[in-house]
Amino acid sequence: MTKHKIILDTDPGIDDAMAIFFAFQSPEIEVLGLTTVFGNVPVTMAAKNALILCELAELDIPVCKGVAMPWVGPESGYAHFVHGDDGFGNINPPDPKGKIDPRSSAEFIIEMARKYPGEITLVAVGPLGNLALALRLEPELPKLLKAVNVMGGAAFVPGNVTPVAEANIWNDAYAAEIVFAADWELNMFGLDVTYDLPFAPNFIDILAEKNPTLGGFVNRASQFYTDFYSQGKDTRQCYFHDAFPIAYILEPSLFEMTEGNVRVSTDKLNQGQTSFAPFGTTASPDWLEASTINVATKVDHPKLTELFINTYAL
Ligand code: BDR
Ligand code: CA
Repeated sequence: MTKHKIILDTDPGIDDAMAIFFAFQSPEIEVLGLTTVFGNVPVTMAAKNALILCELAELDIPVCKGVAMPWVGPESGYAHFVHGDDGFGNINPPDPKGKIDPRSSAEFIIEMARKYPGEITLVAVGPLGNLALALRLEPELPKLLKAVNVMGGAAFVPGNVTPVAEANIWNDAYAAEIVFAADWELNMFGLDVTYDLPFAPNFIDILAEKNPTLGGFVNRASQFYTDFYSQGKDTRQCYFHDAFPIAYILEPSLFEMTEGNVRVSTDKLNQGQTSFAPFGTTASPDWLEASTINVATKVDHPKLTELFINTYAL
């Protein structure tokens, strides 16, 4: 079986951890490396956390450090209130023993894309600065990658940072605009699908039972995360946003994708808004000239949940 080659661009992060282990566990996926970016936590912590996850999974792959700041503007505020001071729900795992790869995230992406032209799916589950930088350094990148699967954006639903913007896109809207405008196959997994599937505590209990090491880690880290997502709700729940673009690689039939034109807003009030016009819904030349992407608009909940559990159980 030829495996799907991926690079995971990530800001771990609790749902990042869940997604990374999901990819590691799948026999159909080869993770070439983890490239890290600021987002949920500062980039130095993101890189350290990515190393921790690799060591826990006993997987020796490159972990690179990437951009620390948005493309434009000051350093971001981080999401410690969602992911904890350590990015892992304050469970404070021991420091990793390994070293960060000397290549920057953007350099690693370019090197791998040149080595395996047309084979790699770039799975981006944090802000998009590494990918924007890689595009600037290697304008041929769209031809060298197979596809870019992004967790981010909100096409037909409200945002989670502002009424119109999702966190990954809002965090680096200028970079996102560059990435969304590039000429590649871009599949967007935004809040339209990820916020549609809350996970109850028994889901993380099952992950821990099926896979005590990796599922157990996700379970412990997710307690704080579940507290955050359960505020004001009758039942406890959390969301595993970042695993969706990986699931699409394994089981595209679980998703309904809608093709259309997209623009990312960089103006202050609407920063990070992903405005989306499905094909046939507008005749405006401005919109018809905007780049084309595929947006996940529906997902099969029972089958996706089953895929996560079965993969953790392997
Ligand atoms: C996204 O933002 C981060 O907090 C999560 O890791 C996910 O990538 C959800 O909006
Ligand atoms: Ca993330």
